[in-house]
Amino acid sequence: MPKIQDLEDSTFDPILADELMFGDHTDPYSRIEEFRAGGPVIAGDYRSMMGLPSDPFDPAKPRYTVLSHTAVETALHDPETFSNRSFEPSLGVVYGPILTVLDPPVHTGYRRILQRAFRPEMIRAWERDYVEPVLAELIVGLHRSNRAELISQYTRPYPFGVIYRLIGLPHEDEEVFYRLTVAQLVSSYAMDIARDAAVKLDQYFAALMAERRARPGTDIVSAIATAESEGETLPDDIAISFLRQLLSAGGETGFRTLSVLLCKLLTQPGLLDELRANRSLIPAAVEETLRWEGPVVTTTRETTRDVVLDGVPLPAGAHLDICLGGANRDPAKFADPARFDLHRPRRQHFGFASGIHNCIGQQLARLEIVKGVEALLDNFPDIRLDPDAPPPIVRGTTMRIPRELHVVFDT
Ligand code: HEM
Repeated sequence: MPKIQDLEDSTFDPILADELMFGDHTDPYSRIEEFRAGGPVIAGDYRSMMGLPSDPFDPAKPRYTVLSHTAVETALHDPETFSNRSFEPSLGVVYGPILTVLDPPVHTGYRRILQRAFRPEMIRAWERDYVEPVLAELIVGLHRSNRAELISQYTRPYPFGVIYRLIGLPHEDEEVFYRLTVAQLVSSYAMDIARDAAVKLDQYFAALMAERRARPGTDIVSAIATAESEGETLPDDIAISFLRQLLSAGGETGFRTLSVLLCKLLTQPGLLDELRANRSLIPAAVEETLRWEGPVVTTTRETTRDVVLDGVPLPAGAHLDICLGGANRDPAKFADPARFDLHRPRRQHFGFASGIHNCIGQQLARLEIVKGVEALLDNFPDIRLDPDAPPPIVRGTTMRIPRELHVVFDT
């Protein structure tokens, strides 16, 4: 295995970075409701309207926030008019040519090849070889006591652990990897740190790809290095950028979704009892979490021409914050949208976005989260909030997480 190099800046703190990057609101949704009262698409960028420093990229561009379900759906399904080039000065600089930054036809070809690495038989192999062993180890750890802090002991190490195993990372490199993964995301306030992380990860993955091409296994690096569609494989720079994106796309989001779901189950009376009595409701609980508190509150697009979106005229070259969280709580689509309702009729939510950029890892993510809840209920049927610890609070303006989740149980 190649050796991973740490950041030059040894003072970088991934936990503090979270707050700086993603904000600290406990309830961004009531503000989003107020914004939507001003129209389905309103002038201004989401971060500054929420009182955070606006991101520093392309400050001269006119900025809008897209809030209604109809407007978000239209924007996500018309990539010719609503381009992902909006990501070029931010993610594009740090990650290089990842799917998120690309438009058709380049996106179409690479996505088709990458999709081959996520086919159902691969997901089944990953479930057996990586997801189940990581879960089993974490559960053994929890059994050592009759109380736990689930964020540090369960929900963070779990999806990140799966990604690390998928890559085949040695255990002793995990902490450095976590720092580099978070550091990649801080481009809006510390581009030098983000770039440093990108260079270190690039070097690592270039060496690893060469190794796995020579001796492929069931891991994701081998799958991506050898994925092929219509006789084409991925160029090395695309494959390496994708592997770097996978660290944050696959780890951060799953960790946040499971954390928010467990927080909800432990705090809303009756919910956990209902799932204990009827395990077949767990997938519905995961979908409702993705609608009600999906971890990705906003994404972005740029208009390529003058266009009218849900009745609102927009100029060409405008930067749009697409508020997935706003669409997911639009009362025109979801009755009583602030209520977490396991029995809500299934409607399109945007927790995994939609259209050509919809989440490529969603089947793996769903599987991980469902199994994460099941394993806790199997092993700690009486799990409950720790009455001696502070109650959990979900925080964040653009990405959401409870920082601590203390529980007790009989072992
Ligand atoms: C609960 C967990 C997850 C959530 C909520 C989530 C959410 C999302 C969202 C909202 C997008 C679309 C962004 C946009 O259109 O601008 C996306 C795209 C993506 N996701 Fe996920 N994701 C999750 C897990 C994963 C996992 C496990 C992987 C891979 C192992 C992954 C890989 C990706 C990639 C590569 C894209 C870009 C797809 C494209 O642009 O064509 N995600 N995800």
